[in-house]
Amino acid sequence: MKSKLTAIFSCFTGSITIITRSACILFLLSTLSLSVFSQSRTELLFTDGWKFFKGKNDASFAKDFDDKNWKSVKVPHDWAIEGPFDKEIDKQMVAIVQNGESKPSEKTGRTGALPYIGEAWYRKTFQLPGSIKNKRVILQFDGAMSEPKVFLNGVKVGEWNYGYNYFFIDVTDQLKAGENNVLAVHLSNRPKSSRWYPGAGLYRNVRLIIKAEQSIAQWGVSITTPVVSSTFAKVNIKTKISAPGATLVTTILDQNGKQVALDSAKTMFGNEADQNIKIQNPRLWSPETPELYTAVSRLYLGTTLLDQVTTRFGIREISYQAGKGFSLNGKVRKFKGVCLHHDLGPLGTAINIAALRRQLMILKDMGCDAIRSSHNMPSLEQLELCDELGFMFLAETFDEWAKPKVENGYHLFFDTDAEKDIVNLVKATKNHPCIVMWSAGNEVPDQFGAEGVKRAKWLQEIFHREDPTRPVTVGMDQVKATMASGFGALLDIPGLNYRVHLYDEAFKAFPQGMLLGSETASTVSSRGIYKFPVVKAAAKTYPDFQTSSYDLEYCDWSNVPDDDFVLQDDKPWVIGEFVWTGFDYLGEPTPYDESWPSRSSYFGINDLAGLPKDRFYLYRSRWNTAKPTLHLLPHWNWAGREGQVTPVFVYTNYDSAELFLNGKSLGIQKKSKATPQNRYRLMWMDVKYEPGTLKVVAYDSTGKAVAEETKVTAGEPYRIVLDADRKSIAADGEDISFVTASVVDKDGNPCPTATERLNFEVKGAGKFKAVCNGDATSLEMFDKPTMKLFSGKLVVLVQSTDKQGNMVLKVSGKGLKGGEIELTSK
Ligand code: GAL
Repeated sequence: MKSKLTAIFSCFTGSITIITRSACILFLLSTLSLSVFSQSRTELLFTDGWKFFKGKNDASFAKDFDDKNWKSVKVPHDWAIEGPFDKEIDKQMVAIVQNGESKPSEKTGRTGALPYIGEAWYRKTFQLPGSIKNKRVILQFDGAMSEPKVFLNGVKVGEWNYGYNYFFIDVTDQLKAGENNVLAVHLSNRPKSSRWYPGAGLYRNVRLIIKAEQSIAQWGVSITTPVVSSTFAKVNIKTKISAPGATLVTTILDQNGKQVALDSAKTMFGNEADQNIKIQNPRLWSPETPELYTAVSRLYLGTTLLDQVTTRFGIREISYQAGKGFSLNGKVRKFKGVCLHHDLGPLGTAINIAALRRQLMILKDMGCDAIRSSHNMPSLEQLELCDELGFMFLAETFDEWAKPKVENGYHLFFDTDAEKDIVNLVKATKNHPCIVMWSAGNEVPDQFGAEGVKRAKWLQEIFHREDPTRPVTVGMDQVKATMASGFGALLDIPGLNYRVHLYDEAFKAFPQGMLLGSETASTVSSRGIYKFPVVKAAAKTYPDFQTSSYDLEYCDWSNVPDDDFVLQDDKPWVIGEFVWTGFDYLGEPTPYDESWPSRSSYFGINDLAGLPKDRFYLYRSRWNTAKPTLHLLPHWNWAGREGQVTPVFVYTNYDSAELFLNGKSLGIQKKSKATPQNRYRLMWMDVKYEPGTLKVVAYDSTGKAVAEETKVTAGEPYRIVLDADRKSIAADGEDISFVTASVVDKDGNPCPTATERLNFEVKGAGKFKAVCNGDATSLEMFDKPTMKLFSGKLVVLVQSTDKQGNMVLKVSGKGLKGGEIELTSK
């Protein structure tokens, strides 16, 4: 063995070509370690075999207890998403001070009206895969909602208050090898603990990691790229090790798995190895080129492989400079970002990679390049996807510091937990190239007062200590207060939530020389719903509890997208925006916080089912510079509005377009700077409705017609049409195909106002998982195989089982020709 290891080094130092060297090393490393690799470290996902109980709490559940009558569940699991929706759940008599309210009023649906409150237990019995002599065993929770208390074989081994954070526990001493071990987790969700649907349960992964006693510390590898150029990069790797006398050998592989560097740490600094590794001609990570490298850290004692950790990273350079703004790899750019809450609509908060990926693919098509995990730690899976698909990430921590927004919010834990919560966020996620900024908080009431300034400084310093490479922001809504107190001035990056009218003043007052639109727009709309007359208005409500998709309605504290666009386009010192929000989420049904049944948001650019609202195309027309956008609104099914003014908007990246109604020109509109709306939208305000065909023809700068788009008045709903985002999915019991169901008339025209009830059935190697129509007022449950269409559409989620083969989704509806789609599970 020893001679082989020596051979590796001499191979590396020899003067042969890189390809030959890499091949040589790969070959030798694999022959060296095949027998020991599998023993060096094992990571098991604790997915199956969980028992779940929600109800009266009993301390004996932690111990020897017969749980056979408990419900069998798979983790990740959200215990509340099956509902039912109930107005009484978490009903709050409050004044939402942050929204400018001074008198308490009854708020229903604020946290989604789903049964997330209460105590519950999860239990899992497991055996270790082998002996744990001279090993350490770690149990990692990627998040548990909330206040998890963890018991192993009846002994409490750990707890963590914040439901959004990752934490791990060394459980070696409580484990029994060769026998059953019982893991029991108690969770408790207090009422009035959130401003949105927080979910409930073991909603993220639970991992068991078995490694050698002498090994690399959990989250112990820290990779940065302090020097980046097109010809070479310096990769710095710090590795925390508990193995005196051991040697750390690090290899770096490129995207294709080809080894591009190898280094052996010669010196230990206490328990840390510090390596600087040169990569020639690096392929830089960016949203457009999400190139990733992998560092394989192998720890040897003599020739024995003690441990092996694989870390994916990217080579990229970020810089934030006054007068220049934000640059990635030397190029100035502005964040085209969205804020996201963590729920996945009909799946609740239970992590699902297919659902996360679908969200990102939709955002990618919109031209979005950045995500803010409002207002808490993102899932590890979301960060991995952002690395792979190319999204920059603003990773946030808290919605509250020491001062409350809600009665049982994070303020209960702030003093004792804030530091360790930040430490775990940074330690667990720091190697993700996608993360380009941290956020220490969102609109914390601590923006007022001297204590708040101290807290801001304290938190920012914790971030700096843990990660000197990324700046820190806070989303501020009390801009005047933060200008006066010094709160805004001390942050690395001042983030403004809304307050477009204060950008200039804040830029002058703050010393950083730049501002981030950490939260923008909060425009509200319901997919496919249009209200008349078409006027720009704050806090507008209607008897049907919907909002208008003309994209002119917003909140008392917010604005329409165009107002942000003006700042982004005209102020070089604004470094980008994060729109509230990319997708609708459960809870916070503003402007219907007091109206039942409203249980999910209207803020999304896409609805809760992930279907694009009109606003999607407004952002796409700006952000997706690679593809043309030409989108016409409203729909053209307005029986009863004949002869009435029905304005027509076009969202496009073409400069001008001509509108035709039943072949008659209604004139050419050109973008102009008259108003923000005229600058970013083409609008025909005086169109009088008549049924038929509405057509827009776009012209290029020479006046040549280059694209067109039509809306046709549809007849009666006739046939169901199905369209899957992916027809082939993995046979892993997790993967999901998202099938959009819509109805068309006899001639195939989409019926945009259809509300027919549809029924779903899946046969073969898959199962019906959930359905969602994006209607914020619907009380139909997501897991029942029937739902009404909303504005002519809904989305059915078909999930694989662990069987390979074909499956068929059948969709039927009374009086409608049914639809069928075949999917494959491989
Ligand atoms: C912001 C807040 C968000 C959300 C949004 C709605 O003030 O940070 O969490 O509440 O308003 O407009």
